[in-house]
Amino acid sequence: MFYWDDSLITGIKEIDNEHIELCKRANKLFDAFVKGNIVEEINFSMNYFEEYIYAHLKNEEKLQREANFPKYELHKLKHDAFRENFEELKKLVKARGITYNFVQKFNGTIIEWLSFHLREDDQELAEYIKTLHKSKINELNLSNSF
Ligand SMILES: [Fe+2]
Repeated sequence: MFYWDDSLITGIKEIDNEHIELCKRANKLFDAFVKGNIVEEINFSMNYFEEYIYAHLKNEEKLQREANFPKYELHKLKHDAFRENFEELKKLVKARGITYNFVQKFNGTIIEWLSFHLREDDQELAEYIKTLHKSKINELNLSNSF
């Protein structure tokens, strides 16, 4: 199970809402593993998770491009690596079912993603966007004073 905590909050509503939904979907997957459900159900849970995370990554990348985030390329490379790892996980479970190797890789990919990417990379992005908004507000205040 993955537990949501305050250190994951970015303060950007859209991103936070999507991250919370991702945690919920990841936990559905964990649940399917714990119950040792059949491969069809694991595949269903993988699809349920994938559908949302892929859309979320695209949204985040769009937000970064629009904000001219200076670390966009690096951040996107991390998203690409996640997508590649996830595709590998899908192939693995399809071919061999739920093996020890699969669970190890699954934990490495999903837990690390939720724990580190959200806590570090996405926080960095959130800080940048907040600074951007503050300077825009300052600019507006400045132009209003003339
Ligand atoms: Fe991200």
